[in-house]
Amino acid sequence: MQKMSIFRSPTPASMQSMCMPRSMSAKVAFTNTQVHFLAANSPSVRVGSGMALKCSSSDTAQIDSIASSGEHGRDNGGGIDYRKGVKSLLESAPHLQKLPSEFVLQLDQSPMDAAGGSDIPTIDLSGLDGSPERKASTIKAIGDACEEWGFFRVKNHGIDDKVIAEMLEVIEEFFGLSLEEKMKYYSEDVLSPIRYGTSLNTPLAHKLHWRDYLRHYGHPFPENIFQLWPDNPPQYRNVAKAYLVEIWKLTMKLGGAISQSLGLEEEYFEKSLGEGVQILACNYYPPCPEPNKTLGLAAHSDHGGLTILMENGVEGLQIKHAGTWVSVHDVPSTFVVNVGDYLEILSNGKYKSIEHRATVNQHKTRISVAVGHGPEMSTIVKPATPLAKETDQYRAVTYKDYVKLQQSITSRGKNALEKLKI
Ligand code: OGA
Ligand code: NI
Repeated sequence: MQKMSIFRSPTPASMQSMCMPRSMSAKVAFTNTQVHFLAANSPSVRVGSGMALKCSSSDTAQIDSIASSGEHGRDNGGGIDYRKGVKSLLESAPHLQKLPSEFVLQLDQSPMDAAGGSDIPTIDLSGLDGSPERKASTIKAIGDACEEWGFFRVKNHGIDDKVIAEMLEVIEEFFGLSLEEKMKYYSEDVLSPIRYGTSLNTPLAHKLHWRDYLRHYGHPFPENIFQLWPDNPPQYRNVAKAYLVEIWKLTMKLGGAISQSLGLEEEYFEKSLGEGVQILACNYYPPCPEPNKTLGLAAHSDHGGLTILMENGVEGLQIKHAGTWVSVHDVPSTFVVNVGDYLEILSNGKYKSIEHRATVNQHKTRISVAVGHGPEMSTIVKPATPLAKETDQYRAVTYKDYVKLQQSITSRGKNALEKLKI
């Protein structure tokens, strides 16, 4: 239906269609861009934790263990609507010293005590274009990194620093726009071609996380896709396209090496994707008054095959390695690559999709850009035929169903993948 008009017209009338699950009857009152949501929700209803939604305290039905605060979405008497996102929250309360309770998470290990000693392996990708011996040893190093860490850093990856810097610049400018401008891209549909939002990706009620985000698809760049992307800042579309094209090429190169490291033909990973799906997630984590009590992004694994991550020089990524959270250090001009659920399944469990999370810090804004790469949505996800055994570990499922499951779950970790285990 009128997806375009939903994205494009931030008028109160369209806000209603953006924010209200159509199946739900509720009284809605508008104040400027805010929607006061007066329904008493039941746990089975999509609660709509949208950024413009302001739930009354009767909206306390919680979906799962993460969502335990009875204050979810309440304005704490100070007139603050947390669902407008963390950037806007800080603009309305610039001297905030205490983390609002909606953001306080129960954490298995404080974000501040991650192990600092060990680090993910760094792979010099120029080795893939070197002598046969160098190529073979680079492929082996990539395979070992996928098996032992599920994460590695790449240098000499061939992407110009300028392409990276321009991408960071347009993202920073985008998040600097007014809330109303950004809300044009708000959506609760986890498969929407473009989404602006806050906290986790799911519209289900959950404890809030200290993040605003913009997500949209890239490759294979279907016709008209660019019209959905932000036109403010004006260079956004060109810069993002140039970045995503380069990242796709890099991913296919890595996919070739990974296929060979599994004993498969070089094109196996790429061919398995069909047309493929590329998803860009721009994460914006402003300074947080009490960074040891919350996260920017909860522990999760990525649903795609390979994710390529870069950041604005501010650290924050932590990965679960050997049972403990390890900080991943920022190294200029490199990308961090990780194995996602699709590749774990394709490798029949040899390579593991590792849980990771984003921490926040007290003084700096962190921006990270994660690009995920999965197969086209109708693909049946299952182990690569040459690696499959009678005792396959994973139930076959379409990628689309898997993405929906993974994105909708509020108790993150690797719970979606666990559901596929036989
Ligand atoms: C992601 C992600 C980590 C980060 O967007 O999937 O894991 O450091 N981001 O922002
Ligand atoms: Ni991730």
